[in-house]
Amino acid sequence: MTAPAPPPASPVLGVAAHDGIVAHGLARSFGAVHAVRDVSLTVPAGSVTALVGPNGSGKTTLLLILATLLRPDAGAVSVAGVDAVREPVEARRRLGWMPDTLGVWEELTCHDILASLGRLYGMGKAEASARADEQLAWVELTEFAHRPARVLSRGQQQRLSLARATVHRPSVLLLDEPANGLDPAARIRLRDDLRAMAAAGTAVLVSSHVLAELEEMSDRAVFLREGATVATQEFRAADDLARPYRIAGPDPTARDTLVR
Ligand SMILES: Nc1ncnc2c1ncn2[C@@H]1O[C@H](COP(=O)(O)OP(=O)(O)OP(=O)(O)O)[C@@H](O)[C@H]1O
Ligand SMILES: [Mg+2]
Repeated sequence: MTAPAPPPASPVLGVAAHDGIVAHGLARSFGAVHAVRDVSLTVPAGSVTALVGPNGSGKTTLLLILATLLRPDAGAVSVAGVDAVREPVEARRRLGWMPDTLGVWEELTCHDILASLGRLYGMGKAEASARADEQLAWVELTEFAHRPARVLSRGQQQRLSLARATVHRPSVLLLDEPANGLDPAARIRLRDDLRAMAAAGTAVLVSSHVLAELEEMSDRAVFLREGATVATQEFRAADDLARPYRIAGPDPTARDTLVR
């Protein structure tokens, strides 16, 4: 018998056993707007869960609640076993948050952005600097280490944002529309990175308004409509049923080349 292959290298290897996210009955209004009305969901450790819903369905509001950046009006959230409403600081140590825009101090260099974050998470100066270098190598932005973040392309900004969200090795990772604006190669990279993190034990929740964008990188999807969770789908189980595809075209040779 051969030993199982080790999980792919990722900066979150070795995260402790934990419970991912468990949320019940979440609600949050802005005046008369009920952005999140009734959300219950789980994000198991070791998996990638997609949060799918149309524009305005409450994805960002929900993610902000889970990230402890917005207080719910009602409901409970546990992040890695911590009550995130009562103990937001403890929860924040365990979670990483990748917002839908990078929103950094644009004049700071990529290295300094990551090192500053490391310092805010309590690392010493040397450790934070070494961690910044490690993160930049992981997302292949070492050549930009000492250049300001404003020079980065959209795809590079997303990679820096991922490096920033994981600088403290969180066991829960929340990403708001990370695939938005990425080309196919960058999307494959994102998929590989998120899958590697899940394989290392991280609970990953990733949002999009298009299911197709996330389907290949997720184990399951939670669907949100008008601020409420309406369904959950397990993809691995769905894959077992095998999906039939029919590809038609005028030139069978060209078709065969395309699908090979
Ligand atoms: N700070 C706020 N003040 C007032 N209304 C808000 C606020 N934040 C969100 N909303 C409203 O809550 C609803 C849900 O917004 P949210 O940004 O959570 O949706 P979303 O699913 O992330 O949409 P998108 O796909 O466009 O990013 C919308 O009707 C929005 O206008
Ligand atoms: Mg949003």
